[in-house]
Amino acid sequence: MVRASWLQGPDRQGFCGSRVAARAATRVTTQMRIFAVSDLHIDYPGNKRWVADLSGMDYRDDVLILAGDVSDSIRLLEWCLGIVTARFAHVLYVPGNHELWVHRDERPGTSLEKFQQILKIVDACGVSMRTFHRNRISIVPLLGWYDYSFGTPSEELLDAWMDYRACRWPDDFSVSHVAEYFLKFNDAALDVANDTVISFSHFLPRIDVMPAYIPSQKQMLYPVLGSAGLEAQIRRLRPAIHVYGHSHVNRSLTLDEVLYVNNAFGYPHETGITAKALKCICTD
Ligand SMILES: [Fe+2]
Ligand SMILES: [Fe+2]
Repeated sequence: MVRASWLQGPDRQGFCGSRVAARAATRVTTQMRIFAVSDLHIDYPGNKRWVADLSGMDYRDDVLILAGDVSDSIRLLEWCLGIVTARFAHVLYVPGNHELWVHRDERPGTSLEKFQQILKIVDACGVSMRTFHRNRISIVPLLGWYDYSFGTPSEELLDAWMDYRACRWPDDFSVSHVAEYFLKFNDAALDVANDTVISFSHFLPRIDVMPAYIPSQKQMLYPVLGSAGLEAQIRRLRPAIHVYGHSHVNRSLTLDEVLYVNNAFGYPHETGITAKALKCICTD
């Protein structure tokens, strides 16, 4: 099965809640840094270990943007959110495509039902999927999906892309319906204004954030990387920085006065295209 990859192709809900309460009681506010990472894929033991080893002291006044693809396992997602909320003052999150996989669930419902389940877990863990404001900075999470606006999928991609087997949508949902469904959640946040607005999504808002060195054979994946509808929302929001995940190709580049940043952690073998470290994108 194909996932985005360019080089070659203990804790429960109550645990989260208790950590949130403990942290709120002890926080001392100083300078705030905003870190970003995506695509932790903690199904891999080394990736999970990196999360477990995050400093308990270094980020206590900081914000973490976690831009999707933590795991398709609800149990692992909950574990990860419990860890990062204990390490950071605030954690902002959007799910990636992997979180909406249902093929391994014992009694699989639709991916939309799993999304609702994720919203409850996120809330219980003290993580936010809503706009965050502090002083001169606002951070806006943007949901999304892909809709083939970056290209028509080949037969090879339709046959190989794992989401087609691992996600389950209502019978009348096309891929465009999925993208529209998630983009609609963003509407209320698109008029946010502040000195510095930062937005983030799991999916790519534009395909030209991909570097020229991507082999043509790998460009087969472009139709499932994101949507132009997301970029239309970003143009309305006019952020200074937009963080995206999903591609697993770390990059920072400015297009139309927006700094687009990818800091995916990625799969263990993706050492050439991922830094495998938190990236500080802004300070307050
Ligand atoms: Fe990913
Ligand atoms: Fe992804």
